[in-house]
Amino acid sequence: MTVLRPHRHDSALKHTRGQALYIDDMLEPPGTLYAALVLSPVAAGRLRRLDLGAVAAAPDVVAVLGPADIPGRNDVAPVGQNEPLFATDHVSYAGQPLALVIARTLDAARLAAERAVVDIEPVEPILEIETALARKEYVQAPSTVQRGDVDAALKSAPHRLSAEFRVGGQEHFYLEGQIAFALPGEDGDIVVHSSTQHPTEVQHICARLLGCDFNRVTAVVRRLGGGFGGKESNASWVAGATALAAHRTGRPVKLRLPREADMIATGKRHPFLCRYTVGFDSEGRVLALDAMLAADAGWSLDLTPGVVARALTHTDNAYWIPHFRAVGYACRTNKQSNTAFRGFGGPQGVVVMEDAIDRIARHLGRDPDQLRTLNFYGEGRDETPYGQKVEENHLPRIWAELRRDAEIDRRRSEIAAFNRTSPVLKRGLGLFPLKFGISFNMPHMNQAGALVHVYTDGSIRLNHGGTEMGQGLLVKVAQVVAEVFKVDLGRIRPSATSTAEVPNTSPTAASTGSDLNGWAAYEAANTIKQRMVAFAAEQFGAKLDEIEFADGNVRIAKPGSNQVLSFGELARLCHFGRVSLSSTGYYRTPKIHWDPAAMRGRPFFYYSFGAAAAEVAIDTLTGESRVLRADLVQDCGASLNPAIDLGQIEGAFVQGQGWFTCEELWWDAKGLLRTVGPSTYKIPGSRDVPAIFNVKMLDNAPAAEATIFRSKAVGEPPLMLATAVWNALKDAIAATIPEGSVGKTAVRLDVPATPERVLAAIAKLRT
Ligand code: MTE
Ligand code: MOS
Repeated sequence: MTVLRPHRHDSALKHTRGQALYIDDMLEPPGTLYAALVLSPVAAGRLRRLDLGAVAAAPDVVAVLGPADIPGRNDVAPVGQNEPLFATDHVSYAGQPLALVIARTLDAARLAAERAVVDIEPVEPILEIETALARKEYVQAPSTVQRGDVDAALKSAPHRLSAEFRVGGQEHFYLEGQIAFALPGEDGDIVVHSSTQHPTEVQHICARLLGCDFNRVTAVVRRLGGGFGGKESNASWVAGATALAAHRTGRPVKLRLPREADMIATGKRHPFLCRYTVGFDSEGRVLALDAMLAADAGWSLDLTPGVVARALTHTDNAYWIPHFRAVGYACRTNKQSNTAFRGFGGPQGVVVMEDAIDRIARHLGRDPDQLRTLNFYGEGRDETPYGQKVEENHLPRIWAELRRDAEIDRRRSEIAAFNRTSPVLKRGLGLFPLKFGISFNMPHMNQAGALVHVYTDGSIRLNHGGTEMGQGLLVKVAQVVAEVFKVDLGRIRPSATSTAEVPNTSPTAASTGSDLNGWAAYEAANTIKQRMVAFAAEQFGAKLDEIEFADGNVRIAKPGSNQVLSFGELARLCHFGRVSLSSTGYYRTPKIHWDPAAMRGRPFFYYSFGAAAAEVAIDTLTGESRVLRADLVQDCGASLNPAIDLGQIEGAFVQGQGWFTCEELWWDAKGLLRTVGPSTYKIPGSRDVPAIFNVKMLDNAPAAEATIFRSKAVGEPPLMLATAVWNALKDAIAATIPEGSVGKTAVRLDVPATPERVLAAIAKLRT
């Protein structure tokens, strides 16, 4: 079998040898020009004057473009409207693009951009979620997921607790920054190479700006140097600006944002403010939850509707909550327009119940792990507040395996003993269960296409709508095609994603890349295979089921004959017999539906489950923390490629760890982002990876639904497993006051739990 086996990433050696071609590595045709952006230095205000005279007069400058140079519509909104490429009469955040400079060299373009004279009459920016809430400044109307009678259930609950906390944003910090390279052709045709997760949106936004038909624009993506959601919508405006420049100058143009401009101009993970009241009985059984989740959307809508919907549909996480209400607010602030980031609102949703469980456990003096299992979804209580049944719930099994493998009981007493004798360092242990819904929340996005060619030498070219961003999508889908034809994986050549080959695609996002494109490619390959089988049967006078594909060969297994020819030989014969060796394939996810007004339906084809245990140590004098050990169990169904999936689980966890602990975005009082590079914005390094890191996939767990080879999506879910680190930090902080202080050890610990926050939480607890 080629599927369900570890195969190395198709570019692994090229990545490590520096031979993988990214857009900036492409050979440049003579006459290529370089672009740089002029960005707003002010967060909010009226644009009185933009003087670009000195910019245009700077050495080697070829053109300076603003809103008036856009032949089509000055709008790069991915789902809504009125998100201008270049600000016109007012600016909405510091870092907003105002104009584009095009020059003969990259340095000339960037130096010239600095000469812009920008005159903005500032107005007071909205920088806080609370301010936006108070003024009802929303980018979309509030939305609610609810079930039961929350008010009555809270009123009659034996216990009630209320709390508030916030989680921060997160910079994607893809290694390759935003970049596009546009090449003009004849009659206004244009090819745009873009580092995007969403080639079709690049095509649409270029066409919208240029005022041309979609068929004039071809978006091409060989690979991204990381996307993590940050190149789902943001890559489109970068590509759009580049296409505009190529269109206006008639020359190839490349735009690559330097890290600082990338961080200032593009959106991040949404920070959230969460408030909730939870009602429970004396056993710790949750009876009702009333939650409000307020997202900092930034200045525009971007992809916020989906992020808020996912947060609200993940607030329940693994837990049955009979009476439930979660209200989502999408607050408009004068900041970068926040966007997709691995988990897409899921991480901001699942933390609510974790905070609640932690507080309930400390209030009642009970073991939080037992409270978690007590509240799991289960028999007779398996419907989510939005109406989807929780099927094939693996959590009880995952939880048991995790507790056993990670020796939770033994280590809890060991840690307690350590803490009794260690005055400065304190340890903590935290567990976390995850249920994550797989599919785009919007049903129409759950479709994909593929295009497969078999050549007469038996080599195969594979194209599909998904993009490769390091996650291993190309190798996984190639495995599927190799499996259909029973040929060696080396015979499959995955080609660059292109809107000219597979049209009208969805972004590679929501972890659905291999689910959707895997099936589409399967369909395409299988169509060709059936034609080959029919031809061979006729040619060799055999029955259809006597044509067997195996090991790169085709055997005519009819009685009395055992003729074998290679796959390539049969391909050649098919061609001479005038049989088409090329096919498209198409897939749409079955069973899903969603009513966005009622916030009810079955938005997810299936759930992916996981659990983690993390052990941390904190230094009570400095607030510094370390993750000493992490144990992860993740459900990947029947993993299409266990080597790739393992890497995804490890990487996602550490990225989540960064969000929970060290990655802090900081804006000054005027709304200027001051963390604009790795020196001030701290992403986890190799030494932050837990010293003991036990990662495993749940075995013998093929997906119950008909996913491709019964595999499950893996890209995003394990990021949330890092919630265990947050739970562990609270556990360690609680250990800084005497044992047995029942009801007094609950702590508020905002995310990221930086040393300052850990220290402040300890100080608060001790007073
Ligand atoms: N892995 C790498 N190496 N680089 C990335 O940019 N993006 C993540 C995840 N894993 C990402 C990654 C995100 S946000 C998503 S949605 C999925 O990959 C998308 O790919 P998939 O659907 O093929 O899993
Ligand atoms: Mo991933 S945030 O869905 O690109």
